[in-house]
Amino acid sequence: MLTPSDKALVPFVSVDHMMKLIHHIGLEDMLGGLAAYIEADFKRWESFDKTPRVASHSDKGVIELMPTSDGADYGFKYVNGHPSNTKDGLQTVTAFGLLADVASGYPVLLTEMTLLTALRTAATSALVARLLAPKGAHVMAMIGNGAQSEFQSLAMKAIAGVDEVRLYDIDPAATAKCARNLAGSGLKVVPCDSAEEAMLGAQIITTCTADKQYATILTDNMVGSGVHINAIGGDCPGKTELAPAILHRAGIFVEFPEQTRIEGEIQQLDPHHPVTEIWQVLTGQAQGRSDDRQITLFDSVGFAIEDFSALRFVRDRIEGTDFYLPLDLLADPDDPRDLFGMLQRARG
Ligand SMILES: NC(=O)c1ccc[n+]([C@@H]2O[C@H](COP(=O)([O-])OP(=O)(O)OC[C@H]3O[C@@H](n4cnc5c(N)ncnc54)[C@H](O)[C@@H]3O)[C@@H](O)[C@H]2O)c1
Repeated sequence: MLTPSDKALVPFVSVDHMMKLIHHIGLEDMLGGLAAYIEADFKRWESFDKTPRVASHSDKGVIELMPTSDGADYGFKYVNGHPSNTKDGLQTVTAFGLLADVASGYPVLLTEMTLLTALRTAATSALVARLLAPKGAHVMAMIGNGAQSEFQSLAMKAIAGVDEVRLYDIDPAATAKCARNLAGSGLKVVPCDSAEEAMLGAQIITTCTADKQYATILTDNMVGSGVHINAIGGDCPGKTELAPAILHRAGIFVEFPEQTRIEGEIQQLDPHHPVTEIWQVLTGQAQGRSDDRQITLFDSVGFAIEDFSALRFVRDRIEGTDFYLPLDLLADPDDPRDLFGMLQRARG
């Protein structure tokens, strides 16, 4: 029999399917749903296999594999980061991922994750901002107005109570694009001519720039007391956004210290500098913001459990829909030990 059986077929979510799924659910509802899945998984942190992602660096960028498992499901994401790609009409970040059943080892989902990464990153940022930002925070400075910026802005609106975003990018065309995309979203959108102007009156500061080097997007004198910094763009060895002096003034919160110490803003600090893990704040085992004047910093690099949560979310939400194709991915010989015999049947 040449037609693949059900055992051969794995649900495949293409970029087109993902776009339709997001609109079907509604972007802000999906951000909220992803945040709930991520929160649930962070709260059972100890049940996961955890390892810093496996990174392959070149002078142009990085390619990474991000695996984890909770003993029932196994997930991984392939993701790149190439800051100069946009000059060639390519994106800085693209990704796809897979979820598998641990008991059989069989994949149960293969999906695009470029859009999904933008959504899960934004959902994580907003979940953490809801936890750490000062009470009543509603204005965000959005520095770096590239591919992630609208998702960051809308997640902060849907989850963390933000109603105004102040945009700045070294490239005014990026700011104009972001402002255009956010028009009609319900956010007040203020394009700015400098990072300093963007930070005026902001209680949350998101840095989301792309550069393959130590950059200083925020200097020490730009950051006043009591703000929450959501630092997204420093996520590779040799790639940071904040002046070290800011780190010394801030309470620092991270996903997985073993990975963040290699990749995050804290690569600039002593390897024993104290940090708090987000999952411990979510479970009440560690304190979040200590007082109104504390600067809280989420040193975000993106961790495999966030992708695992996103994969679980997509698996649950495509069931019974048309937002996937059955992909003939797995060889399925009639006799499991006769792989060769299956091959022979396809001879012309
Ligand atoms: N932490 C995470 O989980 C996570 C997830 C996804 C992406 N990222 C990182 O976020 C960053 C942004 O990703 P993207 O897809 O939006 O990239 P992008 O290339 O689409 O946009 C980056 C923007 O930053 C701007 N920029 C560069 N230097 C700047 C500066 N000094 N001041 C102001 N703006 C500046 C660029 O002009 C560009 O518009 C990347 O570094 C990426 O690796 C992190």
